[in-house]
Amino acid sequence: MQKLTVQGGVPLNGEVTVQTAKNAALPIIAACILTDEPIIIKKCPHLKDIDAMLNIMRHLGCSAEFEGDNLHVCCHDVSLNVINADLTGKLRSSIFILGSILSRCRRAYISHPGGCEIGLRPIDLHISGLKGLSVKIEDESGVICCDGTDMKSAVVNLDFASVGATENLMMAGALLDGETVIVNAAREPEIVDLAGFINAMGGKVSGAGGSIIRVTGVKKLHGCTYTPIPDRICAGTYLAAVAATGGCVSVKNIVPEHLFGITERLKKTGAKLYLKGGSVRICAVGRPKAIHKLETNVYPAFPTDMQPQFCAMLARANGSSVIVENLFENRFGYTTELVKMGANITVKDRIAVVAGVPKLHGAAVKACDLRGGAALVIAALSAEGKTEIYGTEHIDRGYENIERSFAALGGNIIRTEVE
Ligand code: UD1
Repeated sequence: MQKLTVQGGVPLNGEVTVQTAKNAALPIIAACILTDEPIIIKKCPHLKDIDAMLNIMRHLGCSAEFEGDNLHVCCHDVSLNVINADLTGKLRSSIFILGSILSRCRRAYISHPGGCEIGLRPIDLHISGLKGLSVKIEDESGVICCDGTDMKSAVVNLDFASVGATENLMMAGALLDGETVIVNAAREPEIVDLAGFINAMGGKVSGAGGSIIRVTGVKKLHGCTYTPIPDRICAGTYLAAVAATGGCVSVKNIVPEHLFGITERLKKTGAKLYLKGGSVRICAVGRPKAIHKLETNVYPAFPTDMQPQFCAMLARANGSSVIVENLFENRFGYTTELVKMGANITVKDRIAVVAGVPKLHGAAVKACDLRGGAALVIAALSAEGKTEIYGTEHIDRGYENIERSFAALGGNIIRTEVE
């Protein structure tokens, strides 16, 4: 077990380069099953969630090895092994792999991914979407058994623009005869990236980034080399940290339009942002201003994956902020840890009222989910005194060496082993 120890109160300064996006790399790795030829994913981040997905791929008979930052995947032979709960339990988004296995093998067996710290995370949209492509699906003692023998392309209407369900359907349609149309598709940049990857393999996906995606099936896909997009949530985490601590930081390797939902809200805190090409510079002085109302929603609105980090920053704001969480029903768990650091936060259902305090103080706190863990790091960097953050395994699911990035910006943060 490890912990992060942070001596807070130091402004952040310098520059940081953003890793490639976990949420783009995960479905791209799953989509490697669509071809029997080798794939190279460049600059793939080294993360616990990526490892968990690679273990599923190996379990299915694919080879997957890192050479430096390049991930080499080859799914020449795919075995229809049941993906057991010990594998799906490590990665809630393991269900994203159903579409590509079905596309390639016409059958798939996967244990139910179960609940999650931030909400129930049902999979009904994935199931009904695949049923719309004539896949027969039964739940046998917790194992989702899919028979795609009669699979055919169709128009599938999603009741909600789910990111994972959209990605599953894109992969499911990639090798089918005819055109699969996804109506009310999610519009996140990671969806556009998956379309880019399928097309780089010789697929025909159009409309990604809009609400209607068309996937024209092809007979065969081929190998390719692909670099996923930069991680907009990591970029947002660095920006929120600087708004919390003060200082001036250039965040490099970004796509500015992917960040608008975040940068527009950051400007409301009084931070100054300067966008230039593939980087953004943020300068902040003193306590941030409160944000009257901050509401999460699907892209291009403010992302739910940035809600905890903003809450940590607003804990020290001048004034009160109201945060409304519209996507996940249980995403304020981390606030009890912020309260231990002196924050004044009241949560009722999906709404948090954050009454800014002049100072947070150090405490021993525990991360219980990925972005909640990032929020604790931000709070610790802006607090007075020493904070110990346990539960680092959650943070490592989505941030490559978070302590190294913040230490390079002048943050006083180290990782140590604990008994
Ligand atoms: C993806 C992201 C996650 C992000 C989320 C929302 C990955 C690996 N993960 O997760 O970081 O927080 O998008 O931007 O890309 N829902 C249903 N039924 C379903 C599927 C989803 O009710 O079958 C609900 C969920 O419970 C949630 C909402 O829809 O309330 C959004 O979920 P979804 O867009 O599917 O998120 P994920 O793809 O799981």
